[in-house]
Amino acid sequence: MHVIPSFLALATVATAFVHPGALHTAQDFERINTHVVNGDEPWNTTWTLLTQSEYAQSTYQPGPKETVYRGSDGVHSENYPSLYRDAAAAYQLAIRWRISNDTSYADAAINILSSWAATLTEIGGSSDKFLASGLYGYQMANAAELMTDYSGWDSDNKTATATMLTNVFASMNELFLQDHNGQDYYHYYANWDQCNLASLIAIGIFTDNQTMYDNAVSYVRTGPSNGALPVFAIANYTESEPDKVLTQGQEAGRDQGHSTLDAVLLGVIAQQAYNQGDDLFAEYGNEILNSAEYVGKYNVGQDVPYTAYNSYQGNQTVISNSSRGTVRPGFELLSAHYGQLKGLDSSWSDAYRDWVNTNSTSGVEGGGGNYGSTSGGFDGLGFGTLLYRIS
Ligand SMILES: *[C@@H]1O[C@H](CO)[C@@H](O)[C@H](O)[C@H]1NC(C)=O
Ligand SMILES: *[C@@H]1O[C@H](CO)[C@@H](O)[C@H](O)[C@H]1NC(C)=O
Ligand SMILES: *[C@@H]1O[C@H](CO)[C@@H](O)[C@H](O)[C@H]1NC(C)=O
Ligand SMILES: *[C@@H]1O[C@H](CO)[C@@H](O)[C@H](O)[C@H]1NC(C)=O
Ligand SMILES: *[C@@H]1O[C@H](CO)[C@@H](O)[C@H](O)[C@H]1NC(C)=O
Ligand SMILES: *[C@@H]1O[C@H](CO)[C@@H](O)[C@H](O)[C@H]1NC(C)=O
Ligand SMILES: *[C@@H]1O[C@H](CO)[C@@H](O)[C@H](O)[C@H]1NC(C)=O
Ligand SMILES: *[C@@H]1O[C@H](CO)[C@@H](O)[C@H](O)[C@H]1NC(C)=O
Repeated sequence: MHVIPSFLALATVATAFVHPGALHTAQDFERINTHVVNGDEPWNTTWTLLTQSEYAQSTYQPGPKETVYRGSDGVHSENYPSLYRDAAAAYQLAIRWRISNDTSYADAAINILSSWAATLTEIGGSSDKFLASGLYGYQMANAAELMTDYSGWDSDNKTATATMLTNVFASMNELFLQDHNGQDYYHYYANWDQCNLASLIAIGIFTDNQTMYDNAVSYVRTGPSNGALPVFAIANYTESEPDKVLTQGQEAGRDQGHSTLDAVLLGVIAQQAYNQGDDLFAEYGNEILNSAEYVGKYNVGQDVPYTAYNSYQGNQTVISNSSRGTVRPGFELLSAHYGQLKGLDSSWSDAYRDWVNTNSTSGVEGGGGNYGSTSGGFDGLGFGTLLYRIS
């Protein structure tokens, strides 16, 4: 039997990207639009919340910067809120257009993207600049991907947006994953890798860059540092129910704000790849589910087992209760995929999703603007009750 050289095998299976196909596909919008047109709950309440957002208005004006600063470099003031607000607005306006078909929202969304593309040349600041490249890279790329088939987007401006995403964001995403800001692989906590991986996957899809996409997906599966799935899982525990595994993630001993962020970012990574035919959700015995279940259970007030973890800050001997019960959007995606689509037991993710929704505006998952004005309220794109929930 002949062994097919790997480059030939790859060439045979290489297929074009699905568009739109980062967090959402055209098929998703058929389901979403039907729920909205019928006024079904809880979709209609979430849709109403979106239409009331200050970031989803056609009059929204962006504030692009030539250099964005996140974290102090000792010289420049931080100015990055304009980027997270504009990324949230581009995304919310793009969603509003795809559901309402009103092009005034489409025009406002592409105005945000194109004006940043015409202005932004660099992201600076402290090491936190690599959080900006990751978080706002995946968000801007998702907004762009939702607009990819809009006929009103001038092709030069669309190309300029792709160039900005590649040259400013993806180049920093790759640099971080290779070099970790000059530190060893275990220095930066998992969310730093994960936001930069989410960004590369989204930008790879929007710009049809198979190499960028493949490298990032491969890093998630087998990468050497804290955000990659094999390193992120610290310990597995079996609950009394059969087949129910809880996985302690890499930031459990640090705090719950970052532990919940990891779950949300892993959901983004896996959803984007899933829409291109790569099931990262299923990897390592559903590790993303098992780690979300662990986080969900602890954050709704239940106890979970814990194994001491030697972080770069020292030995973390107990789970951290700092920000336990934090209200962070993003678990709708996890519950929808694992519980509703795949029929797996996602009870603790569901419980945390409900905890967040109970403590949020209107009892559903909101997005940027509904969770405070500081950066943490904009880490996730949200509105998952509208966008992911199946039934
Ligand atoms: C959706 O919710 C809004 C706001 O509560 C309400 O006015 C509207 O009638 C609902 N839509 C449908 C089709 O029920
Ligand atoms: C928008 O258009 C799509 C098909 O192009 C349709 O399914 C959907 O119902 C429309 N939405 C509204 C609010 O008219
Ligand atoms: C391209 O984008 C810029 C910046 O938003 C805008 O001023 C310009 O009108 C756009 N060009 C076209 C042809 O739409
Ligand atoms: C595609 O991504 C690869 C890897 O990140 C990069 O080296 C290459 O320049 C990108 N291609 C384009 C056309 O931007
Ligand atoms: C947890 O279980 C999964 C699935 O069996 C396995 O792939 C992974 O290596 C385990 N991780 C740890 C830290 O034991
Ligand atoms: C961390 O602390 C635990 C519990 O006290 C201990 O068992 C373990 O040996 C320590 N690990 C390191 C690397 O010091
Ligand atoms: C939080 O954890 C600390 C350190 O383990 C502990 O002293 C404290 O009692 C805990 N607080 C609560 C409310 O559980
Ligand atoms: C969130 O809601 C739950 C009820 O679902 C409540 O017990 C809890 O105290 C609330 N937490 C916060 C932070 O408001």
